[in-house]
Amino acid sequence: MAVTGLLMLLFLIVHMLGNLKIFYGRDDFDHYAGWLRTIGEPVLHGAWYLWIQRFVLLLAVVLHATSAYQLSRRDLKARPTKYAHHQRAQAGYATHVMRYGGITLALFIIYHILDFTTLTLNRHGVEGAAYDNVVSSFSVWWVTAIYIVAMICLGLHIQHGFWSAAQTLGLNRPSRDRAVRGLATGLAVLLTVGFLIVPVAVLAGLVD
Ligand code: HEM
Repeated sequence: MAVTGLLMLLFLIVHMLGNLKIFYGRDDFDHYAGWLRTIGEPVLHGAWYLWIQRFVLLLAVVLHATSAYQLSRRDLKARPTKYAHHQRAQAGYATHVMRYGGITLALFIIYHILDFTTLTLNRHGVEGAAYDNVVSSFSVWWVTAIYIVAMICLGLHIQHGFWSAAQTLGLNRPSRDRAVRGLATGLAVLLTVGFLIVPVAVLAGLVD
């Protein structure tokens, strides 16, 4: 879970930074979206890099979800009866954030791909016109609302997931716990705010 999670985190940081190019205007953003399809040329042919990345990300999502499922089965087996009192409220919160937040994110990713990659749900839906596709989606308030909910789930998921990954990989110890938690919160806030700037700017009419 830790390794696949960190791989997806790396993708998200790059994706979030790339999205901010929308503030440079239509031409720059569409040029950037076009470049995403030709990364690696001429060493790699056409969209090969994109397909390798898609394959690796899909594998990461599947392995991450499978490990999550196995972990929650193991938890249930280890404690078939509920805790008698609420000392473990914090652990319960983390489990909920990770489990239901993770399911919400998986559904969001399907929606997001249908919106911006296959363009099936996009109201503008013109291939190569990434800027206008983004603006047309986020001009609708409920689409922006879906993104706001999903990005909050993403932030909470990263905050706890990053800390968990540090534990799993043996990078955390009592003397570093505060620093690891701080880094986890910092990353979560950076990604949530960084991603949300775009839909909120469109809805506010700052990008049109
Ligand atoms: C407000 C936040 C976001 C915006 C504005 C945004 C925007 C976009 C756009 C415009 C594309 C299509 C790029 C293109 O092919 O032309 C895209 C693709 C994608 N986005 Fe996002 N994105 C956001 C958040 C996210 C999040 C949180 C995730 C993951 C949890 C994500 C995962 C992906 C994936 C997997 C693709 C498909 C890339 C491919 O074609 O293989 N995005 N996004």
